[in-house]
Amino acid sequence: MEKKHILLLIFSLFLLKPIADAKDNCSPVSCGPNEPEIRFPFRLLGRQSNECGFSGFDIFCDEQNKTSILLPLSLTYIVNKISYLEQVIYIDPEFCLPNRIVSVNMTNTPFRSHLWMQSYTFYNCSVQNDQSFNFSDANVPFPCLSNGNSSVIAVETDPWIRVHMPSSCKLMKTIDVPVGFNSDFGSQLEMIWFTPFCRSCESEGKACRLKSDNNDNSDGETICVSRGKGIFLCTRYF
Ligand SMILES: *[C@@H]1O[C@H](CO)[C@@H](O)[C@H](O)[C@H]1NC(C)=O
Ligand SMILES: *[C@@H]1O[C@H](CO)[C@@H](O)[C@H](O)[C@H]1NC(C)=O
Ligand SMILES: *[C@@H]1O[C@H](CO)[C@@H](O)[C@H](O)[C@H]1NC(C)=O
Ligand SMILES: *[C@@H]1O[C@H](CO)[C@@H](O)[C@H](O)[C@H]1NC(C)=O
Ligand SMILES: *[C@@H]1O[C@H](CO)[C@@H](O)[C@H](O)[C@H]1NC(C)=O
Repeated sequence: MEKKHILLLIFSLFLLKPIADAKDNCSPVSCGPNEPEIRFPFRLLGRQSNECGFSGFDIFCDEQNKTSILLPLSLTYIVNKISYLEQVIYIDPEFCLPNRIVSVNMTNTPFRSHLWMQSYTFYNCSVQNDQSFNFSDANVPFPCLSNGNSSVIAVETDPWIRVHMPSSCKLMKTIDVPVGFNSDFGSQLEMIWFTPFCRSCESEGKACRLKSDNNDNSDGETICVSRGKGIFLCTRYF
């Protein structure tokens, strides 16, 4: 009885091996235990072959083992979360770091804003007894850039507002922000992608991959494959 089972097991392992071989090294990876899972259409640079992902979805692990993405026309951003089902990537704009208040430029990337790009103007306001301007409306506070003497806020760019800002507020920078359903853009920005389209695979619990093997030149057409082939059983950390 036992032997029969073992034989069967060995037999099925041999059967499965050729299937698993092709894209065996495309099993999900991550930069660390609490970091987002990286799988198609994303690929971990240097650790996964190109065929594991799609052009423009290149992830790397930074020195702190944080999941990072380079947007060609702007900067490198920490990836907080990836929703494969909703096809949304959440990045940390890192506005709280010195000199990091810059536009996220999604040109030449597969990503787009959920809704639109909104221009915001950042002001550095010295905290005085001038309370004539009501800060509680139509602005986003940045406590991380503020101290007891100054307070940094972002306001939707508007010539009228600019003229009517109290003189205690100095204009810092005007940037474009991808506005998502998450209005707290100071800590997280949402970007969506449409191609490759894997939502239907994801909702069926299946794995998505490119239909053809000439990945970077392909049109992003995908197929769903079962995850039950031992390929997607465990996540490797780097
Ligand atoms: C990053 O991960 C590697 C391997 O898991 C580990 O040796 C290293 O200490 C980590 N570095 C940091 C900064 O957490
Ligand atoms: C992104 O970069 C392109 C090319 O340099 C430029 O034309 C465009 O205005 C930039 N967009 C934003 C939001 O900065
Ligand atoms: C500022 O606006 C808020 C909400 O619109 C209001 O509740 C508050 O009384 C206003 N404060 C001042 C000082 O006008
Ligand atoms: C805001 O202005 C104050 C006073 O000029 C300055 O000390 C502070 O560093 C500024 N804050 C930022 C984030 O630039
Ligand atoms: C605020 O300004 C006062 C007086 O100039 C200074 O002594 C104090 O260190 C400043 N506080 C901060 C947090 O910069």
